[in-house]
Amino acid sequence: MVNPTFTDMRPELGQPVEDLETPVVVADLDAMERNLKRFRELADEHDVAVRSHTKAHKTPAVARRQEEALEGGVLCQTLSEAEVMARYGIEDVLLVCPVVSEPKLDRLCWVADHVDRFAVLADEPEHVARLGTAAGRNDTTVGVVLEVDVGLGRLGVEPGKPAVDVAEAVREQPGLAFDGILGHDGHVPYIASSESELEELCAGVAADLEETVEALEGAGIGVDRVTSGATATAPLMAAEDVVTELDPGRYIFNDAALLEQGAVDRADCGATVVTTVIGRPTGDRAIVDAGSKTLSYVDGPDPVPVGRDDVSFYRKSSEHGFVDVSEADVAVGDRLEFVVPNLWAVANLHDTLPAVRDGRVEEVWHVEARGKDT
Ligand SMILES: Cc1ncc(COP(=O)(O)O)c(C=O)c1O
Repeated sequence: MVNPTFTDMRPELGQPVEDLETPVVVADLDAMERNLKRFRELADEHDVAVRSHTKAHKTPAVARRQEEALEGGVLCQTLSEAEVMARYGIEDVLLVCPVVSEPKLDRLCWVADHVDRFAVLADEPEHVARLGTAAGRNDTTVGVVLEVDVGLGRLGVEPGKPAVDVAEAVREQPGLAFDGILGHDGHVPYIASSESELEELCAGVAADLEETVEALEGAGIGVDRVTSGATATAPLMAAEDVVTELDPGRYIFNDAALLEQGAVDRADCGATVVTTVIGRPTGDRAIVDAGSKTLSYVDGPDPVPVGRDDVSFYRKSSEHGFVDVSEADVAVGDRLEFVVPNLWAVANLHDTLPAVRDGRVEEVWHVEARGKDT
C-alpha cells in the first residue's frame, strides 16, 4: 500500500478554509463573479468583446466561467495551454505566441481542427510560410492574427505599412485566413506615472492600431478584429473606437502588482495565499511557510496582507516568507493571508485551487494547464 502524503490530501468540498493545509492558494468565488460582472458591463457599455487570457489561471473550469459570463473566447500563451483548453471544450482560442517548429505546427493544426474558432499570432513572412505549409500538410485552415508592436518592444510588426506585407503573405497562402490584428499594451501600466499619462499612452496605442488598420484597408485588406486592452488598461482601451476586443488576463482574480499600480482595489483581489507562522525568531520577524516555491521568483511587489495592516511581507526564500511583525501580536501557528504578488506566475505552481465562498471550499479546480509550457 502506498502511504498518502500531503500531495494526496486535496482540499475537500465544504471544508472550512481554516482547516486547509498551508501554504495554499485559494480563489474567492465572490470576487471572481464581481470581476466577471465588471468586465461584462464594460464590454456592454462600449460594445466590445472580451477575450480572457488563460495564462492567469491555467484552469479550464475558470475558462468555462469566462466563456459563459462574457460570451468571448480565450487567449492562450503556449500551444500546450491551448491544447488543454481545446480538450476541455473551450470553443474559441487565440494562441498569442508564434509557433515555428514542424511538430508543434502539426499540434497547432490539431487544435485548429478541434475548436470552433482558432487563430495564432504571426508577425513575419517566415511565420506565415511555416504556418501555410503546416496547414497544407494537415489539410486544414488556420486563422492568423497579426501582432503589432504598440510599444512593448517584444514581438510584432511596426505600426502602419509594415503590416501590409505580412497580411498579404497570409492572404497568398490557401490554408491561412487573415483574422485581424493585436497590439499588446502590457508595458503601459509599468511606465505610466499618473492617470493622465496612462490615458496618453493608451491613446498612443490606439493611434498605432488605427494607423495599421488604415494601411491594411488602404491595401484592400479588411480588418474585422482589433484586439488590445489588458487588465489595467481595459477601461481606457474599451472606449477607443478602433478596438473591437479586449484581452485581459489577471482581471479574473487580480494581484498585488495591479494593486500597486492602482488599477484595482483590495476587494477585487480574489487570489490569496493562506500561510502558517512557523517561527518567531526575533521580536520583529515572523517566518511563514510560503516562499518563492509557492509564490514564484518573479520580480514585483511583495504579497499584500489580507485583513490586517499591522504585518508586512518583505522577503522570500524558496520555502520561507519573511514577515515584519514589529507592530503585531503574532504567534507560532497563527495563519496569515496575503494577496498573491503575481497571478501569471502563481497559476503555474499549483495542481489544484480550492474555490471558496463564505469561508468554505465550494469547488476544487484542477489547474490542468499548469506546467504546460511547450
Ligand atoms: C498578448 C497578451 N494579452 C493580454 C495579456 C494579459 O495581461 P493582463 O493579465 O495584465 O491582463 C497578456 C499577458 O501577458 C498578453 O501577453
